[in-house]
Amino acid sequence: MATFPIRLFGDPVLKQRARKVEEIDGGLATLVDTMYDTMDEAAGLGLAAPQVGVQKRLFTYEIEDSGPSVIVNPEIVESSGEWVYNEGCLSVPGLQFEIVRPRFVTLRGLDLDGNETVIEADELLARLFQHEIDHLDGVLLLDRLEPAERKQALRAIREHGLNGASHRGPNAL
Ligand code: NI
Repeated sequence: MATFPIRLFGDPVLKQRARKVEEIDGGLATLVDTMYDTMDEAAGLGLAAPQVGVQKRLFTYEIEDSGPSVIVNPEIVESSGEWVYNEGCLSVPGLQFEIVRPRFVTLRGLDLDGNETVIEADELLARLFQHEIDHLDGVLLLDRLEPAERKQALRAIREHGLNGASHRGPNAL
């Protein structure tokens, strides 16, 4: 099983906007397979390509036992409602934050055959889609916090570091 190291908060790759995928080829399929294994090993629910140092607009996810999936060039075309979730991130291990985001989203993107796929999602899946698209835009969950909470989180990271693989928590997106 091949896996990538997961890039952590502080790595500049996490602050950059990823580029649109122009061609879906065998190389991309291999990347996705390795991302599936990486996500599985890390016990994460979702993984965006920049988290493994690849600046392409795609993410993988698995929130039930239905097997892992991938969306290439994802976009949210509709969103509504509000939902609070205690959100974690594989790139910010050991920390979770209650964040409000839309409850429902409609996601549009491509599958690995290049076919358009449209998914209507709510709650956890909708949250995951929004979190992963943030990664593709160089946005981390820390950027979604109120200024005072963000400041406190950054201080905690500075003082204690990130807790690493043993404290990832169950909600890592
Ligand atoms: Ni994340």
